This record gives sequence, C-alpha cells and structure tokens, in this order.
Amino acid sequence: MKTRVYLDHHAATPVDPRVRAALAALDEAVWANPSSVHAEGRRSRQSLEAAREQVGRAIAAQPADVVLTSGGTEACNLAIAGVLRGEPGPCHVVTSPIEHPAVAEPIAELEQHGAIQVTRLAVSPSEPPAPEALRAALRSDTRLCALQWVNHETGSIFPIAAYAEICRAAGVPLFVDATQGFGKLPLSVLDMNADLVALASHKIGGTAGAGALWVRRGLSLHSVLLGGGQERGRRAGTPDVRSAIAFGIASTLVPERLAAQPRIAALRDQLEAELSALGAEPNAAQGTRVATVTNVWWPGRRADALVAALDIEGLAISAGAACSSGKSEPSPVLRAFYPADPAKAQESIRFSFGSETDENMCKIAVDYCRVVLSRRTG
Ligand SMILES: Cc1ncc(COP(=O)(O)O)c(C=O)c1O
Repeated sequence: MKTRVYLDHHAATPVDPRVRAALAALDEAVWANPSSVHAEGRRSRQSLEAAREQVGRAIAAQPADVVLTSGGTEACNLAIAGVLRGEPGPCHVVTSPIEHPAVAEPIAELEQHGAIQVTRLAVSPSEPPAPEALRAALRSDTRLCALQWVNHETGSIFPIAAYAEICRAAGVPLFVDATQGFGKLPLSVLDMNADLVALASHKIGGTAGAGALWVRRGLSLHSVLLGGGQERGRRAGTPDVRSAIAFGIASTLVPERLAAQPRIAALRDQLEAELSALGAEPNAAQGTRVATVTNVWWPGRRADALVAALDIEGLAISAGAACSSGKSEPSPVLRAFYPADPAKAQESIRFSFGSETDENMCKIAVDYCRVVLSRRTG
C-alpha cells in the first residue's frame, strides 16, 4: 500500500496522541452539564475550568478573560458582532481583504445590511499593510479594527504590535484573529496588546469543536448566541466539555510546537526548492512568514485538478482555506495580491506542515508531485 502524506496542517493538525489518550481515559462522569449544581455537574465544571486555565496559561492570560467557544469561526464572529452589537447606530470598521472567511463574512454581512461602513486596507504580496495605512484609515466613528496575525494561505505575519499601538492611541478596539499564529509563534496576549484574540484547538493538536476568544478585561462584549448566561454572559449555550478538555491539553503542548518551528522551516525551505525544480513558483508572502506553509504557483495547472490528482496519488494538500475547498473559486487571498493575474489564484496550491512532518514525508510528497506533473493534466 502506498504511503499517504499529510501536508495540510493549516486546515487541521492531527490530534496529538497525548490528547487522544487523555480523551480515551476520560472518566465517564464528565458528561454532565457544567452549570448544574449537583456533583456530576460540578465535576464537569471542574474539568471545564481546568481547560480554561490551561488555555489561559498558554497565552499568558487570566482564565476569567478566556471565553470558550466551539472553534475559531465562532470566536471571530463573537469578537465582531459582540463588539458592534453595542453600537447605537451605523459605524466604521477597518479590516483587510485577506482575512479568513470567519472574519470577512460577518463583516461583509453587517456591511450589506448598512450597519457598518468598512475600510479594507490595501494589500500587496511584498509586505503587510503599513501601520501608517491603518492610522490613515481610522475615523472618528471607527469602532473596531479586525486583522489577522498570520494568514492561513501564505503564512504572512502582520505587525500586530504596531497596529495595536495605533488602535490604543485612537481608542479603537483591535480584534486579532490569531487562529493560525497560535502554536507557531509565541503568544502573550498582553504583549500583543490587542483587545480581543481568537484561537482554535484543531490548529494546535486538539480536536475540532473548541476555540476561544480572549477579551481584554473591561471591554464590553455582547453574546451572539442568546440564551443562558454561560461564559459570564458572553457565550450562551452548554459548552462541549470534552472538546474543551482536549483544547486545554493541546495548549499545554504549545511549547513543544514552538520548539519545532526551526526544524519545520528547514523542511519547508527544502520542499520549496524541490518544488521549484519541478516548475513551481513560490508565491510571495508579504515579507516575514511562519515556518509551516508554502504557497506555490504551477503556471498552466489548475489547482483543483492538481489537488484531486495528488490526493489520489497519496498526498493531502489544499488550494486555500479548507472551508472553501469543494468550491472551485480562486483563492481570495491570491486574487487580492494579484488582481491583474487571475490565473495565479486558480493555479496555486498550499503545502502546510506541522510538528509531525519529517524529511521522509517531504521526499515522498515531491515524488508524488513529480508523478502527477508528468501527466498532461491534473
Ligand atoms: C485564520 C483563520 N481564522 C479562522 C479560522 C476558523 O477556525 P475554525 O475552523 O476553528 O472555525 C481558520 C481556520 O482555518 C483560520 O485559518
């Protein structure tokens, strides 16, 4: 049987074996509603609070400021709608055109309904938006700035500390989607100096179904889900305690992920060189980027056909955000980078790496690419 190689860690990391083992060994008693006052409920509550503490510790935050959610998308939606719902009338939001749909879509929806006006900072493939461009975009009615830390498709890193200084001076809350940065770059929410920070468990070796929004103490946040007063009134609904436990354990393993980054960068650079020898052109990543991804253009080869053919061959990669796969739309990130060159967006694919990736996997991946590219199509 052929070896399968998984290089789609930006979509989801494999569940860490220690997380899997801990879930398997979980006492059956952790099923009760953590809001219940009886012993079963208190037991769930204890596990939930332990998980919150673990997530908080991984980002140097107080546990009380961590709102547990069902994932990155919910955390992003909560940050945006939760801040803007408190506004008495239409207001202004600053964002970028290369945000993940979890950020771009809730903003577009509010814009379409006339609840907000939006400035999307201009982007280029060579560098992230300059802090000065953000300063120039702020208006007296700006009520939120929503920007990613690390781009999901290219790995580019936005200079959040510089943005934060500008937002703080202007009194505008800064929401940072750190879903792809957490576990790849050291994260201390206070050093980052943002007001809201979104995270997801399945990008750091946890299971899907858990995420978090860190909220600066004192910032008013409205719950988007309406119902009970869970999560200190910021997220209604009975939480998924088992997923939160997995997230907590995965958070304790983040230091190991961080230590692996230089090794991963070397593997990525080597793979990129070998793909270039097969005719690929690495897409620019706005200067600095994380270790875990390369996004390459194969001129004349449709990305969706390549991804499908490589999957059959044994290599799991993607043509952009996982939530957009299945749609054959060109990558919005690359479209924004290269508006005059739509083929680039249609012909680019993403290889993304994690702690589990080794040299042999990369070698096999290159072999599979060679086989597929030697065919005329796909
Ligand atoms: C940058 C970014 N933000 C948000 C999300 C959404 O997270 P989730 O899949 O946990 O809903 C993702 C997922 O790929 C992401 O990459």
